[in-house]
Amino acid sequence: MKANDMFDLTGEVALVTGSSSGLGLRFAGVLAANGAKVALVARRVERLRSLQKTIEAAGGKAIAIEADVLDRAAMTRAYDAAEKEFGTVTILVNNAGIAHTDRAMELSEETWRSVLSTNLDAVFFWSQEGARRMIAANKTGAIVNIASVLALGASKGVAAYAVAKAGVVQVTKALAIELASRNVRVNAIAPGWFVTEINDEFLSSDKGQDIKRAIPMGRFGQTGDLDGALLLLASKAGAFITGSTLVVDGGQTVQLR
Ligand SMILES: NC(=O)c1ccc[n+]([C@@H]2O[C@H](COP(=O)([O-])OP(=O)(O)OC[C@H]3O[C@@H](n4cnc5c(N)ncnc54)[C@H](OP(=O)(O)O)[C@@H]3O)[C@@H](O)[C@H]2O)c1
Repeated sequence: MKANDMFDLTGEVALVTGSSSGLGLRFAGVLAANGAKVALVARRVERLRSLQKTIEAAGGKAIAIEADVLDRAAMTRAYDAAEKEFGTVTILVNNAGIAHTDRAMELSEETWRSVLSTNLDAVFFWSQEGARRMIAANKTGAIVNIASVLALGASKGVAAYAVAKAGVVQVTKALAIELASRNVRVNAIAPGWFVTEINDEFLSSDKGQDIKRAIPMGRFGQTGDLDGALLLLASKAGAFITGSTLVVDGGQTVQLR
């Protein structure tokens, strides 16, 4: 098969949570540029509308849907709206996420719960709803969960985040096993450091520069560095890949410390 055909997403309907900024905004654009109709989901709907316009101006199709990933009723409404506009969602990208910098001894229960519920609970429940609908519609589906290299190791000040992201890797495996026979693949991407709104202040600090020096490729991830991983896991090119976590980090996690 030709590469263009393998990665072509014409006829697919994608839903990307957290597409109002950073990685999710890019993911939505890449999926649309490769033929998918895209439901854009986040709380800042004005940003989604602006992305919708950009996608449409480039010849793609998108719909902006305001939803908090923690709100199950809003989740149902988001899937209904995407379905009404474009049909059953066949590609789900669970990307919405938040970070924290509190050290474990100072971490409040509120922060712990908020990070776990946004970064882990929502991934499970949006996957559950998406997969139920894919199965009911007898569609082949792909779920791509955005984990992190902090799912595979830890550093200081990320306890809740690292635990949630490790959970995302396990949710990915657990769902992959149960959904394989229903033609729904479930995989994760574990990005290294990419400068976005979630970390721009931290990464421009001295500590951020130390982190950059420690990355074997000598740089943070750049716009476009995750496109290939996303398209592989979302498209026919990844037809026999399920339950995997693809690390995209410039070599950060493999080096000995
Ligand atoms: N940047 C990195 O270095 C890096 C590395 C590894 C993994 N990641 C992961 O990549 C994902 C995207 O992060 P990013 O770097 O692109 O950060 P970002 O620019 O801060 O984007 C986070 C996105 O999540 C959305 N979001 C947060 N809470 C939400 C909620 N309750 N309901 C709906 N949407 C919510 C935000 O939208 P609204 O505020 O508009 O709702 C925003 O679109 C996250 O899961 C993050 O953990 C990032």
